[in-house]
Amino acid sequence: MSLAATRLVGVGGLAYFPSFVSPTALLLLAIMLTLSVRRVDLAALDTPLLVLGLAQGATIAAPLAPVDAALGGALSRTLERRDFRGARDEVLHLAGGTKGPVRVLLVGLGKGGDRGAALRRAASLAARRAHGMGVGTMTWYAGPATPSELEHVAIGLGLGPWEYTDLKTPPPAEERRAPLTAATIHVDDMAGAEQALASAAAIGAGYDVARRLAMMPGNVCTPDHMADVARDIARRHGLEVTVMGRRELESLRMGSFLSVAQGTPQDPRMIVLEYKGAPPAVKPIALVGKGLCFDSGGISIKPAAGMEFMKFDMCGGAGVLGAMEAIARLKLPINVVGVVGATTNMPSGNALKPGDVVQAASGKYIEIINTDAEGRLVLADLLDYVKRYQPSAIVDAATLTGACVVALGHIATGVFGNDQALVAEVLAAGERAAERGWQMPVWDDYRDSIKSDVADIKNTGGRSAGAITAAKFLQDFVDTTPWVHLDIAGTAYSESDLVAIPKGPTGVPVGMFVEFARGRVR
Ligand code: BES
Ligand code: MN
Ligand code: ZN
Repeated sequence: MSLAATRLVGVGGLAYFPSFVSPTALLLLAIMLTLSVRRVDLAALDTPLLVLGLAQGATIAAPLAPVDAALGGALSRTLERRDFRGARDEVLHLAGGTKGPVRVLLVGLGKGGDRGAALRRAASLAARRAHGMGVGTMTWYAGPATPSELEHVAIGLGLGPWEYTDLKTPPPAEERRAPLTAATIHVDDMAGAEQALASAAAIGAGYDVARRLAMMPGNVCTPDHMADVARDIARRHGLEVTVMGRRELESLRMGSFLSVAQGTPQDPRMIVLEYKGAPPAVKPIALVGKGLCFDSGGISIKPAAGMEFMKFDMCGGAGVLGAMEAIARLKLPINVVGVVGATTNMPSGNALKPGDVVQAASGKYIEIINTDAEGRLVLADLLDYVKRYQPSAIVDAATLTGACVVALGHIATGVFGNDQALVAEVLAAGERAAERGWQMPVWDDYRDSIKSDVADIKNTGGRSAGAITAAKFLQDFVDTTPWVHLDIAGTAYSESDLVAIPKGPTGVPVGMFVEFARGRVR
């Protein structure tokens, strides 16, 4: 039975020429991973690679008997000998027999815990291996799966082989390996399977938008480029888009955002995308993202070591654009406004200096202590701006503080908020998306450390509780709208290969945003 082949953006990418950006280069014409789903039939399977996801201590289930037979019993012997035990991230490669699959890859799902998250992680690992092997196509089977678990598998298969190759000269033909272009998922029950695959493709496309923008160097992913991608999303899905520059920000009196942008020759961009899936009377949710295409620290300049990673300082903004792409593809019956503040933080003769006082759009005066605490300055004006949409909830995402990385590492996003029900809603959305968050307090006692001698507030509160005082700063510009702040400094990208998190951009918080939006539908 052949079934819906759904396209999931994942592998490779369109050739991109940084100095001659043609509008068509903005399209998501990456080499696509075609995903399909079919009722399990592993007999006489001729696939170059069969991947079996096995939980810890699992035995050979009935549908696997023909595979075991084709391998002359190698599968059951391997498990009996305990050469493969199904631990999380465990991988074992077996050569196939004279018939049946050419190769078999066993991938461990671990024991207990969230099966959806385990499946996503294992599928991602397997697809990454398959892409590296150059097998071109693969088949996946991991036993019975609910539609939600199937969605996790499909998203994982798309995330795993992702890479950004636009700026690499391809190797000579004889050294090239075939990219992974197709994967077939075998399931025991087809009910809801096609729908799950379609949703996975939509979410996968959202992750792809975010990771691609994130991985682009700062001289390619400029504020203008982010605006172009937003326009492209708007055009393809019929969203409303507004892009504002220095002049418009001046008329909006966004002295806080503009103070960050005053040291850079590039025009800052405030990008507003409006998705209207519900009647106009329905209050929208607002997604707000920090889009620092590069953060040098400005006059409070950062040390040279690792400064290149500050091209990732736009991951909050990329997450908003990725979420808008996914939400539009999912055609969710809700209203969403996505706002991105894109600029770069640079030192120059015109740059903002420590000691300066600037006035935010809300009217509040801000004393600048450290020009490297720039993300909160951009967000202050965006958070004030979205009030005009009277949103039912505001969720912002920002690679805001190194302190958050110290507190939670690369495993959990810092979650802060002024409304416990909304915090719980966002944390639950993260669980469903296999993007973990952990709540941090925003008690008013922390507000004291950002009191200024000369202005209403100062932009840093010293070393202690740096992630929290940053959130307290933002809270001053939100007022009473239910609001959650996501500090994704540790989770949006990885500086090294961390088994399940390959080096580079993760796509966080696209999943959390999308699940939050989906949760508002039900
Ligand atoms: N973009 C950085 C935060 C960051 C640090 C993100 C490391 C990812 C990894 C932010 O703009 C920043 O520089 N924050 C300062 C704030 C400080 C000056 C109060 C920081 O965290 O050091
Ligand atoms: Mn900074
Ligand atoms: Zn920054």
